[in-house]
Amino acid sequence: MNPLLSLDSPMYSAWLTYRRRKSTPFYPRFLVVENGVGETAATELREGLFNLLGARPVLVPEDPGSGDGVVVDGDPSASVQAGGYRIQYERNDGRWLARITGHDALGCLYGSFAFLSQLQQRQDLSVPFIVEDWPRMSLRMLDHWDNLDGTIERGYAGSSIFFRDGMIDPDPSRLTDYARLVASIGINAVCINNVNVHEPETRFLAPPYLERLRSVANRFRAYGLHLYLSVNFASPMILGGLLTADPLDPTVAMWWQTTAERVYSYIPNFGGFVVKADSEFRPGPFTYGRSHVDGASVIANALAPFHGTVVWRCFVYNAQQDWRDKKIDRARAAYEFFQPLDGRFPSNVFLQVKNGPMDFQVREPVSPLMGALPKTSLLMEVQITQEYTGQQRDLFYLVPFWKEVLDFTILGHGEATTVGHRLMQVGPDEMRSGMVGVANVGDDPDWTGHPLAQANLYGFGRLAWNPQLSEPEITREWVARTFGWDILVNKTLETMLTASGQIYEAYTAPLGVGWMVNPGHHYGPNVDGYEYSQWGTYHYADSQGMGVDRTRTTGTGYVAQYQQPWRDIFESPATCPESLLLFFHHVPYTHRLQSGKTVIQHIYDSHFEGAANVDWLISQWDLLKGHIDIAVWNRVFQRLQQQRVNAREWCDVVTTYFWRKSGIPDRRGRLFY
Ligand code: GCU
Repeated sequence: MNPLLSLDSPMYSAWLTYRRRKSTPFYPRFLVVENGVGETAATELREGLFNLLGARPVLVPEDPGSGDGVVVDGDPSASVQAGGYRIQYERNDGRWLARITGHDALGCLYGSFAFLSQLQQRQDLSVPFIVEDWPRMSLRMLDHWDNLDGTIERGYAGSSIFFRDGMIDPDPSRLTDYARLVASIGINAVCINNVNVHEPETRFLAPPYLERLRSVANRFRAYGLHLYLSVNFASPMILGGLLTADPLDPTVAMWWQTTAERVYSYIPNFGGFVVKADSEFRPGPFTYGRSHVDGASVIANALAPFHGTVVWRCFVYNAQQDWRDKKIDRARAAYEFFQPLDGRFPSNVFLQVKNGPMDFQVREPVSPLMGALPKTSLLMEVQITQEYTGQQRDLFYLVPFWKEVLDFTILGHGEATTVGHRLMQVGPDEMRSGMVGVANVGDDPDWTGHPLAQANLYGFGRLAWNPQLSEPEITREWVARTFGWDILVNKTLETMLTASGQIYEAYTAPLGVGWMVNPGHHYGPNVDGYEYSQWGTYHYADSQGMGVDRTRTTGTGYVAQYQQPWRDIFESPATCPESLLLFFHHVPYTHRLQSGKTVIQHIYDSHFEGAANVDWLISQWDLLKGHIDIAVWNRVFQRLQQQRVNAREWCDVVTTYFWRKSGIPDRRGRLFY
């Protein structure tokens, strides 16, 4: 066995690293796990308690009446929500008892993980306590963009853990380790293949593949994870040999029904299908002059008898835009396609909306669709994998960024609410909601390529569990659970993570304008890389100024998609948040920011500061040498060196580009090329 893929290896065990506590008043000798709760909770508790407390409790059918112990049982009144639990730790007849009561079997598992997390986080065991918690969103999903050949679209942590050389061929123990890792943060659904479903993956719905998928689903089931698959809208043709995939054609409907029956005969707890249709050249209902309601319905109706769901992506736009045509605005597309369809989808369809209107940029406004689908089950999609945020070479902690999105105010049923609240909504007519994260996981020994990128996976799960958790709370938890207790490590890492996003933002595309990356792979600077392309992602820089005018009065009108007060706030450069200034407005380089600086001077300053701050990150990391595992230290150190080169490149390219374009000198006389 590869020693790096062992739970004894610090970054492999990730936040489930259970270090022995120095002394403990609680020394559980027995463990009672009620019937029906499942073996997983018992296994996790026995292993975890041994590692944390040195006690290996004996599994017994009932409380023997003496000695410390843990009792796990199910009781629907323990929490109002499925997956919820109560942990009661108390002194009873001179002994300590921990009772973990789940609303259901899943609640028992989550409660067990939470209890271990309490012990890991130095919960005082000499006093009684009660903890109650439950998942706030119904679907908490990871989407892997993995292909059957083992590659991962936008993957930065090695190859797929599910597929190898054209086979569904996961290492069974790694699969279980993955399942426990993500279940421990409350994930309950995993889509294992790329939203871009190519010919080989289209065949997953056929028996030889379903046989293999069944074994994946079985391993997932032990940890409460439902398997989902991305499917090709044209499957009835490619796989079924039909002449059409028209959703209103009865033979197509029949094909989806038969297919759903087949899938469920192999995998009874199958979650459902994820569909990218009419998006970036994927097939969809538009080919037949049908709507997305028609397209989603034919698949949803086939899944409904089995309680399966369709996750239908709203990332639909014209990917063949003429850059000369300034009236088209890609940012408007998703809203224009989907807002009119609100309330028209079957109840087992979720609409999956990206957090911003464009595409996972470092800075984007919140998608106006978040507040415009009150009658539809809604999922917010974020990218944990760092396509545009440093590709797991540059450090970028995404939790602060997601918190901003979740805390953004929208109108829900006429009242002000937040995106987070909207996603917590379990409404009438079986409306549900949740979050989807494009996974940052591969087969690297540390799962995420950059050891500190694990914090993003952790933070995603925690926010999907409860979007009201604060950033410092999540950061503190992750650092302590992963690295243990060393005040220097804890404080330094918390500071580095919190600052990392702003540092990256400072040396890349300025003031919300986006892109400026190398086409294709999207790493490193290329200011005009997409400026004259078909993708609709422009900055419009000329000798006078830059930015995209999306106002109602003179621009593309995109701001009109927002509810008040945002519509007015974004409309004027005077009130528009400066971090988004160039997303909404085309301004002269001499436009003054609140700091008193001009836009051009801000570009110069922020880029030099951003690059210098990478040196600061390195100096912080240097402090930790000797305080954390040397292999982990070296790995991060090496990544930070790459980040330094990348930041320097960004700084020099962007500052030189705008100096040449504008002819305006730097007030501080720094070197341009
Ligand atoms: C981005 C990404 C693609 C991906 C697409 C999507 O554009 O670069 O790789 O397929 O998003 O979300 O569908």
